[in-house]
Amino acid sequence: MKPYYLTTPIYYVNDKPHIGHAYTTLACDVLARFKRLDGYSVKFLTGTDEHGQKVQAAAEKAGVSPQEFTDTVSQNFRDLLVVMNFSNDQFIRTTEIRHYKSCQAIWKRLMDKGFITLDKYEGWYSVRDEAFFTETELVDGKAPTGAPVSWVEEPSYFFNLSEWQQPLLDYYEANPDFIAPESKRKEVISFVSGGLKDLSVSRTTFDWGVPVPGHPEHIMYVWLDALTNYITALDWQEQGAEFEKFWPADLHLVGKDILRFHAVYWPAFLMAAELPLPKRVFAHGWWTNEGQKISKSLGNVIDPLRLVDEFGCDQTRYFLLREVPFGRDGDFVRSSFIQRINSDLANDIGNLSQRTLSFVFKNLEGILPAVPNLLQHEDEQLLVAADGLLDTVRTSYDQQAFHDGLKQIWEVVAAANRYIDQMAPWALRKTDPKRMADVLGVLLETIRQVAILLQPIMPNSAEQLLDQLKVKSDERNFDRLGGSDRLIAGRKIDKPSGVFPRFSEDETS
Ligand code: MSP
Repeated sequence: MKPYYLTTPIYYVNDKPHIGHAYTTLACDVLARFKRLDGYSVKFLTGTDEHGQKVQAAAEKAGVSPQEFTDTVSQNFRDLLVVMNFSNDQFIRTTEIRHYKSCQAIWKRLMDKGFITLDKYEGWYSVRDEAFFTETELVDGKAPTGAPVSWVEEPSYFFNLSEWQQPLLDYYEANPDFIAPESKRKEVISFVSGGLKDLSVSRTTFDWGVPVPGHPEHIMYVWLDALTNYITALDWQEQGAEFEKFWPADLHLVGKDILRFHAVYWPAFLMAAELPLPKRVFAHGWWTNEGQKISKSLGNVIDPLRLVDEFGCDQTRYFLLREVPFGRDGDFVRSSFIQRINSDLANDIGNLSQRTLSFVFKNLEGILPAVPNLLQHEDEQLLVAADGLLDTVRTSYDQQAFHDGLKQIWEVVAAANRYIDQMAPWALRKTDPKRMADVLGVLLETIRQVAILLQPIMPNSAEQLLDQLKVKSDERNFDRLGGSDRLIAGRKIDKPSGVFPRFSEDETS
């Protein structure tokens, strides 16, 4: 089986999980599930970024040690995985011993090669972004993100990032798919073309982090520490078999705010350490809430646990990936969410499957009919569309265009709804029962393919649909799609029940 390794950013534990965390991990989860069903051996990594001044400050504020603090808060992120039905293969924490070893090993490599040297840092630092800024980068005395900055003067080790400008530009040019979407790729290229400054990679004014080997008064810069998680998880420092199998990563999925760290710093560290570079870094956009920037001070943070509680897990997963083209910024509008639940899910696919299955249950004694051998023009049209879905959806997902993949699936659902109305099996019941069974066979086969393809997005609902269609669990992989396989006739279904409930606002609340 071909390997496929994909990662989420590791999340800072100074805060509760919010929609941003859920969004990045969701996209990875969908891809991980898709690839598994498509015959890959997948490793899907997520975790928490537990060091740095920001976390240390949050622990102090909470009146506990940083370790106790991170133990507690890191658990919130693991809880989110369960609630959102994420299928990660590993959860890494940067406070693990093996991660310390891995960071120190990469540090030693860079140091031995002469790429890290001791000097002195003088400049602006934003704790919130855990990033350094030059005077000219500041906007009204703040970081470009609006975070406060403070003047820092301390001895520091520097990584010779400036020397990697040309190798990075050459790499971007030789690997046009390395950074996506295209607009973001252009931004990175223009940033790097503008020249790179050497990067301060150690701090001495706090101690919550990985000590620099041989100089424990220095703590490694949190981003060097954090980025290294992607190879720690494969036990690269112990020459683990997983490193051999899964590195370089197929995809680092990140939010647009942290693209620079992944598309500039990380590849430079890796080149310097003579390790292969990841194949792709994709930056998604940011959500706003009903038109407003999401911020704690505005009190409009969207809690994914509440969304799941109110609307359902699969509904939330579907909405987040269907509503906004992946890679663009998007606005969370409650009424649009409800609209999608009722129209795309309850009406389009929910009704299609419910009325088809009920009809079979009532009129064919619940025995699944076969897909006919002799197809009429309309049957063929619908089946050709269903058979072609895997290829088009795969192409979209490989480009992280989840919204496009979903649109294509819904086009087939719409075609099936037109087909059922046009063929009117209820009218055929008396006049031509053989044709009625054929029409139902074509419909059920279309629903089967759609349900198999929807597993990565809505695992529970797709499972229920496939259960109702009596598709066994070993018949749900993508090698069963595309016309090479058909619905197995003759199995007896149970009385079907609706899989996609309507959502109505509770008038009393
Ligand atoms: N610890 C670093 C990542 C290190 S990776 C080696 C970090 N952590 S974070 O907790 O701040 O990450 C948050 C993630 O959530 C980022 O991918 C960010 O883009 C994403 N989002 C934060 N707010 C968001 C929205 N409002 N909308 C969508 N995603 C957002 O950065």
